[in-house]
Amino acid sequence: MATATTVSQLQNHVGQTVTLAGWLYNSRSTGKLLFLLVRDGTGICQCVLEKTDANAEQFQRARQLAQEAALEVDGCVAADERAEGGFELSVSAVRPVHASDGYPITPKAHGVEFLMKYRHLWLRSRRQWAIMRVRATVVDAIRRYFNERGFVLIDTPILTPAAGEGTQTLFELDYYDDKVYLAQTGQLYVEAACMAHRKVYCFGPTFRAEKSKTRRHLTEFWMVEPEIAYADLDDVLALAEDFVCEIVARVLRDHRAELKMLGRDIAALEKVQRPFDRITYSEAADLLRGDRVREMLERELANAESRVAELRKSIEEKETQRTAPGTKKWKAEKLAREVADQREELADREDDVRNIPEHRELAANFNWGSDLGGSDETIIARLHDKPVFVTHYPAGCKAFYMKQNEADRRLVNNLDLLAPEGYGEIIGGSQREDDYDVLLQKIRDEGLDPKDYDWYLDLRRYGSVPHGGFGLGVERTVAWICGLKHIRETIPFARTMGRIYP
Ligand code: 4AD
Ligand code: MG
Repeated sequence: MATATTVSQLQNHVGQTVTLAGWLYNSRSTGKLLFLLVRDGTGICQCVLEKTDANAEQFQRARQLAQEAALEVDGCVAADERAEGGFELSVSAVRPVHASDGYPITPKAHGVEFLMKYRHLWLRSRRQWAIMRVRATVVDAIRRYFNERGFVLIDTPILTPAAGEGTQTLFELDYYDDKVYLAQTGQLYVEAACMAHRKVYCFGPTFRAEKSKTRRHLTEFWMVEPEIAYADLDDVLALAEDFVCEIVARVLRDHRAELKMLGRDIAALEKVQRPFDRITYSEAADLLRGDRVREMLERELANAESRVAELRKSIEEKETQRTAPGTKKWKAEKLAREVADQREELADREDDVRNIPEHRELAANFNWGSDLGGSDETIIARLHDKPVFVTHYPAGCKAFYMKQNEADRRLVNNLDLLAPEGYGEIIGGSQREDDYDVLLQKIRDEGLDPKDYDWYLDLRRYGSVPHGGFGLGVERTVAWICGLKHIRETIPFARTMGRIYP
């Protein structure tokens, strides 16, 4: 009798005959041998069926199973270092469970728009599988981090009567003839709760109606927001630093295989250790306008230009080879996939060649007082090989609730954490304005109605103390940790400006 097990448990069954229940990821045959790549949700295992006189009919049926057909296989487990996952099955029986004719996602290259349309199926693909597992661990690491350190979970509302992060990015809803909004942040509510529990956090979906199509923006994303009473900017910085190191360490501990599958540079993640560099906004502004940045961008431009030339040449050669008479079908398919990958990289490098001069201009002419743009963040982060804090922004480019700096009243006590390798801001946070009069004035200056914020002002009427916190975006963090180009692959069903299906 074969024991039912899963791919993730094969190490406990070496030498035994087991049953795997899963789906056919891919298959190929040499005539005498049939290689079935079976995925069962816990992993992928190569299952090899040898043709004999006795099993010819079964061999033929198994050979005709289509990609993503559901099936059961019985087989004996052997350890094999070269095999994906480290084990292989020599198959004694294959039982079809359900057919899968014309599965739309084939091993050939597909465009991302196509894949996003089939997101419900794309989730089964190897890379997407790896990303979702990393995401689940990041979410678990976040919850554990706060739960194990005495933070109390406060679930904040999703329907909110007023803006928390500026009025430009609100999704509006009709609430029994009143206007309400989808929450952009739970922060204002955790500020209330931290005066009750001292250390709290909220964690849930947040919404931004930005008309932004960048690879860093979702309209619905998950944010965790800790908030602590009796805390100043330094306390918030220390918490953010420790927290990010813990998350990365946990993924490195549990998901080396997935990171390898994703082609992630693991050494770069291993550098994520305390302490992170800290620079002020004004220092960042000077850097942007300085020689070091100009020279770095000139180097990057030269590199991008030579890579473009290299890729064009290589694509041309591969195409010639692919279409040459006598090229075997499998070889042509392999070349087609390589060309598709190279074309994708080429498009990126061509973008670089177009964009770097523009980014250089923006940096050189950076105006003290404006917010750092996406390209400015990327440039600052490139100068560091681990996350870097930028603190003390001009009040004008940040939210109304941030604490005014005492030494320089033009500034606020805030922090942004920029991830390395061009991933941009993953954390935004601050000490909060705890002075009633200053906060009231800022609400007015922002053009907000103080009546809407009366409850929030109460927090400054009754036992106001220094407090602060931050928000970390799960998807940007996962994109960075996994080394993904676009944030849309980090959430099971992405909501972006251009897509809400499936
Ligand atoms: O900097 P943000 O807007 O800060 C806040 O919302 C504060 N209320 C947080 C706090 O202090 N409690 O957003 C925080 C983080 C960003 O650094 C980014 O990681 C993520 O949320 N984020 C987005 N992620 C994906 N798509 C978007 N449109 C995002 N906007 C913000
Ligand atoms: Mg921000």
